[in-house]
Amino acid sequence: MSQQVKIQLDGQDVELPLIEGSEGEKALDVSKLRAQSGYITYDGGFGNTGACQSGITFVQGEKGILRHRGYSIEGLCEHASFLEVAYLLIYGELPTQSELTAFMDEITQHTLIHEDLRRIYDALPKDAHPMAILSSVVCCLSTFYQDSLDYSNPDHVRLSIIRLLAKLPTIAAFTYKKSIGQPLIYPRNDLSYTANFLNMMFALPTESYHVDPDISEALDQLLILHGDHEQNCSTSTVRMVGSSHANLFASVSAGICALWGPLHGGANQAVLEMLQAIHEDGDDVEKYVNLAKDKTSDFRLMGFGHRVYKNFDPRAQIIKSSVDKVLNKLGVKDPLLGIARKLEEIALNDEYFSQRKLYPNVDFYSGIIYRALGFPSDMFTVLFSIGRLPGWIAQWKEMMEDQSRIARPRQIYTGSTERDYVPIDQRS
Ligand code: CMC
Repeated sequence: MSQQVKIQLDGQDVELPLIEGSEGEKALDVSKLRAQSGYITYDGGFGNTGACQSGITFVQGEKGILRHRGYSIEGLCEHASFLEVAYLLIYGELPTQSELTAFMDEITQHTLIHEDLRRIYDALPKDAHPMAILSSVVCCLSTFYQDSLDYSNPDHVRLSIIRLLAKLPTIAAFTYKKSIGQPLIYPRNDLSYTANFLNMMFALPTESYHVDPDISEALDQLLILHGDHEQNCSTSTVRMVGSSHANLFASVSAGICALWGPLHGGANQAVLEMLQAIHEDGDDVEKYVNLAKDKTSDFRLMGFGHRVYKNFDPRAQIIKSSVDKVLNKLGVKDPLLGIARKLEEIALNDEYFSQRKLYPNVDFYSGIIYRALGFPSDMFTVLFSIGRLPGWIAQWKEMMEDQSRIARPRQIYTGSTERDYVPIDQRS
């Protein structure tokens, strides 16, 4: 019998089961609370709400721990490739060599998108934000690949997973090429996942393009770092949409929209724009730190703070340690890096930030690397999407296999109580 806690509501005892996770997190199971007592719980922003039980990713914010299926993010970044981590997230175990080879081969065979799907790019404005295009085209996959939409058919699910993983880099690179008026570069099946993406982004039909293996490895590591992060806003969106039994393409398309926001994945673009603005304003870092502390302004230090991490973000530490390596390799000297370092130093020594436990997050330094690699800032969140895709897929799949109920929160109604309809000529 599970442990129970007893609470009193309106003089009545209500027993709530306790749930304990494998890493010792404790939760009160309130799923029968309303039926037993008439009460619901209220938790704006869901800071205290466990929306599901999940075996994919463990985050311990106070200690800065991030593990996927039990493996530390540091170890995965050091030893694994992005597709290996994708397999781990989605299927629960690290693949054997033959499993990994088969997985990679299958993905490689699906990298092309339907030729008619390309025509959608012509209909959209050239200056549209790439996240809007990415989300639209991903949703459109469900119109072109109707043979893999049944969430309850394992063969359909497997095929739609492969298709999404294979096609997202192609869709992303086409978005960029279209925006700058260059010819689309088709996928190359002789290249690795990341090298192929770099080639589709930066190659031209007129000259050969060499993908530097060190650069491809650096991007692969950045993708791993974004792989999954338990129940964040976009992942919760994917689960929410999927809970109505919407297909994987539709659910992931919704997740891309959620990621776009500047408080979530859009922060990586916002960080770079903030650093650029500081640079153009004479590198006066303190002015912006003060502005972030000023409660009459809505300016925030982008790339700072996290709902869960309250000491450090382990992903930010890994990225910070590879910034120099990548910039040196590329021979890039970026004045924005100096500003970022100064900003971090001032903020970390400032009471406002230390009291609120605000530290650099994954988005703080990633943009500097993306920029050095040649990505324009509006593509940064697209890169985050490619990295986060395995996590979205894994979470969607886990939820479907758990056969959870449709996600349907309640509310506390605060509007008018019942009143009579007033005819239009009698309204003041
Ligand atoms: N700059 C200045 N003040 C901040 C910041 C910031 N970046 N972040 C939080 N605060 C303050 C906030 O004003 C509040 O102060 P007070 O207690 O005086 O009202 C306090 O810190 C707590 O903030 P909160 O908004 O309640 O915290 P939250 O957990 O709801 O939000 C966050 C987390 C990440 C949205 C927030 O820290 C933020 O807006 N950061 C900037 C955007 C950003 O970098 N987002 C990327 C997050 S990591 C990757 C991802 O999820 O995609």
